[in-house]
Amino acid sequence: MNKNWWKSAIIYQVTLSSFLDGNNDGIGDFIGLEKKIEYIKDLGANVIWVSPHYSSPMDDNGYDVSDFYQVNKRYGTLEDFKSFVKASHKIGIKVITDLVLNHTSDEHLWFQKASNPLDIDYQKYHDYYIWQKPKYKDGLRVRPTRWLSWFGGPTWDYVEACDEYYLHIFSKKMPDLNWRNKEVREEMKKVVNFWVDLGVDGFRVDAANHLEKNWDFPDGYPGYENFSSLPKHHDYIKEFGEEIFEPRELLTIGESGGASKEEALKYVGFDSKEFNLLIHFGHVWADTGPDNKIFNGKWAKSNLRVQDIKKSFQHWYDMLVGKGWNLIYWHNHDHPRIVSHYGNDSLEFREISAKMLAISLYFMPGTSITYQGEEIGMTNLLYEDINDFRDVEVFTEYKNFLERGATVEMALQALRDRSRDNARSPMQWNASAYAGFSKIEPFMKVNFNYLDINVLKESQNVSSVLNTYKFILNLRKEDAKNISYGALEFLDIENEENFVYRTIGPDKEYLILSNFTDKTIEVKLPVVALSGYEYFYSNSSFKKLSTTNVLKPYEAYVYIKKY
Ligand code: NOJ
Repeated sequence: MNKNWWKSAIIYQVTLSSFLDGNNDGIGDFIGLEKKIEYIKDLGANVIWVSPHYSSPMDDNGYDVSDFYQVNKRYGTLEDFKSFVKASHKIGIKVITDLVLNHTSDEHLWFQKASNPLDIDYQKYHDYYIWQKPKYKDGLRVRPTRWLSWFGGPTWDYVEACDEYYLHIFSKKMPDLNWRNKEVREEMKKVVNFWVDLGVDGFRVDAANHLEKNWDFPDGYPGYENFSSLPKHHDYIKEFGEEIFEPRELLTIGESGGASKEEALKYVGFDSKEFNLLIHFGHVWADTGPDNKIFNGKWAKSNLRVQDIKKSFQHWYDMLVGKGWNLIYWHNHDHPRIVSHYGNDSLEFREISAKMLAISLYFMPGTSITYQGEEIGMTNLLYEDINDFRDVEVFTEYKNFLERGATVEMALQALRDRSRDNARSPMQWNASAYAGFSKIEPFMKVNFNYLDINVLKESQNVSSVLNTYKFILNLRKEDAKNISYGALEFLDIENEENFVYRTIGPDKEYLILSNFTDKTIEVKLPVVALSGYEYFYSNSSFKKLSTTNVLKPYEAYVYIKKY
């Protein structure tokens, strides 16, 4: 096996609950996923990343793990899991799973023991988590700090029996583990080895930059700096890298919010012992404005800044070139659907803009990840009732918005635009009931547009979004030498309408010209840039490259120069 196989891997990300229901209980599962591995292979992918499959009360879509050694019953049995891995390997697909190291569910046995002083193992497990005594203000008990969790509420919850607060930087049902405790790390290594022994080829490591906390617990709001990217978290990852990830030849993808050049190289530098690849969010929220009275962070929607997207891709490429490996993707299960977010999901432009986004991303160097449904241009949801949503984050934030003065409609619109549920609705396979996802009513409403947007329909049209993805991802695989291993160079990077770049390989160059707007634009190129380029592909029709290229709304063109 080529040691560097992952550098040109085409990864396909699956959210188990919403991919395909194989046993007709309304929830996706391993039986369903196994049925579709040929579909995934056909698309061009050779790695499947599955969302957390462990036992879980599902407070946060399975990221709240109650038993790391069991397959979640909603997804099937351990036998189903093994069968899926075996079948995937048989057709040349590798499997990576999500590895949740930062926290467990509060229903995990460790936490049950940790929060019950009467338990015989109380001391041992108490120290698996992070606890602080209450503070008192005017005689009233208050939290140790005002730190804000990523889902919008406080990071501390009180356990009366212990007279202490435990830390949870996500939901209150997800207590953070104490990574300073060596026993915790050893337990987690066992978990990793267990799944690798069952055939797993690697992991996407959840919330990797949050493993270390500031144990001085200074007060502050929101206080993110006290639990994000603290230097010691690299030691923990390195320990895993040296002891397991590298010796067992795993593909590892870390998730980390921001990272400086120094940090990025620690994570994925060729001589680093941490991860192979890093998921960062540099390009993901290129349309947020400053916080306002009601909406903060990603919820503060503003105009799209195309140059921010381009600059992020170029920045990451430049940071890592020659020193580490780059990862490209549009969105995952935590983000809005890309065609609604950076494209245009109107009837008029959805299809062409989805293809434009595919052309714009997948000719860039690095390893790529495609998120389920992206390949058919699935859109955001138009839920009208708060009860239609499922994500834990939605409910805290909805309450926050209303308390800060939003009308119900304003709050719902923010959720429709930005919530994570947009990416988590059932996959649209065909035009039969429930989009062919299940025979019974699914756990979450299918997007209303499934009659028009579904895999079957897409597969019947040669120039559909699906066939565009198929063509480009397969090309990416065949021409990895020039694409995945190429050099990236954006042109006109400050421009707010176009997306123009070159990927330069050893025997070919690709030149991409895209229009990110709903207007006709002109892309001007210097004469020297034109020589030797020939038309190769587009979401429109043949057009010769010229010094002034007129691009209609969302058009995208690919030109090739062979040496
Ligand atoms: C990042 C995951 O992608 C997200 O879905 C999850 O809520 C948090 N980590 C907590 O595990």
